[in-house]
Amino acid sequence: MPHFYAKELATPPMPFEEQGFKFCYEAQSLRDPRVSLIRVQHPSSDFCLLKIVQQGGVLCKGEKSSRPIPVGILQHALEVLSHYGKQVRGNLALSHCPSRAFLMDFGRFDFEKFYLEIGFGSGRFLLQKAQANPENIYIGLEVHTPSIEQVLRQIELLGLKNLYIAHADARTLLEVLPPNCEGLDIHFPVPWPKHPNRRIFTPHTLENMLAILRPKGEIWLRTDSLEYFKSSLELALNAPTCQATIAKNAPQEVVSKYEARWVRQEKDIYDLRLQSSAKSVHPNLPLLLPMPQNVKPKGVKASSLWQKKPIIGEDYFLNIQDVLEYEDSWLLAVSLGDVRFPLNKILCWDRGGGGLEYVGGVPFNTKAQRHAHEALCALLQEV
Ligand SMILES: C[S@@+](CC[C@H](N)C(=O)[O-])C[C@H]1O[C@@H](n2cnc3c(N)ncnc32)[C@H](O)[C@@H]1O
Repeated sequence: MPHFYAKELATPPMPFEEQGFKFCYEAQSLRDPRVSLIRVQHPSSDFCLLKIVQQGGVLCKGEKSSRPIPVGILQHALEVLSHYGKQVRGNLALSHCPSRAFLMDFGRFDFEKFYLEIGFGSGRFLLQKAQANPENIYIGLEVHTPSIEQVLRQIELLGLKNLYIAHADARTLLEVLPPNCEGLDIHFPVPWPKHPNRRIFTPHTLENMLAILRPKGEIWLRTDSLEYFKSSLELALNAPTCQATIAKNAPQEVVSKYEARWVRQEKDIYDLRLQSSAKSVHPNLPLLLPMPQNVKPKGVKASSLWQKKPIIGEDYFLNIQDVLEYEDSWLLAVSLGDVRFPLNKILCWDRGGGGLEYVGGVPFNTKAQRHAHEALCALLQEV
């Protein structure tokens, strides 16, 4: 990941603007005096840089939870900042940034119908499907950012207009997507033999997948893991409203990168196709968490926040890891949501005005995020 070390770093007073970046302020950790976060805004991204004072200098790198895509934006911001350093070393050679035009903006999700692929990896399958069916809208979900950047580049090169890429964990996004999905492909998901709870195919996600399907829409799981196949089939058979068909070694016109690998190794490949046999019951809530704008403090000690044990509710958890201060604002480094797949975020709390915002984007409006957010607001107002 891009970073640099400098013997000394003397930036102009913030806020200052340079090369399209606004370096807004530097907030100092109240927990560890060596650590601070610099809030940076760019026309397409809002993120933080992490600054750590070390022996003999200072280290600057991207703060993980708000890291922008493409990573070239972060690299560029660090490069601008590094000009104020003495004896700088690091890995800031600027690379070509793919366009963000087809990076999904969940604040503007308005597709009447869409096809989804979860965990597209190299994107071979997804790109071919989108190319062959320009009348359809495709959405690819990934957590691995290099794969996302690679596919964004391909979309640009191929001139595709019907493929959007979402940087999201399927286990949370599936809960909030609207029920307009015509087909959902999961090809060669990581089988997690020792940690089945990390799988994409769980009772919870299956319920959500079935709920977003349009009539006749189909979930297609393709895997080389017999154990994954069997356990997913069992989940499907236990679901109240699900029809399943199975196949073994069914030939395919379009072959993904992983499939090509398993075929070369002469492995068996299993298909599970599922349809919902009932009309979907979907809450149709806004996709992103609604944000209250008036969280007024009642007198709080920052240390009482991070020293608190994680709050564990029935279906959520919340842990405040650090509080960083800039004038009357606090940046809260939190981990929250579903304990099985926690989300790390930085929130900016304007304690004077009461405004609370998530740096780099609001979380999805899942039950776990909603409840964790409510618990956070209650905590900030209580203290
Ligand atoms: C084994 S690869 C398969 C890639 C591709 N489907 C293929 O067949 O070549 C699994 C992919 O799923 C992605 N992935 C894993 N967990 C995920 C999650 N919770 N949400 C979205 N993508 C995920 C991984 O980053 C990885 O790219």
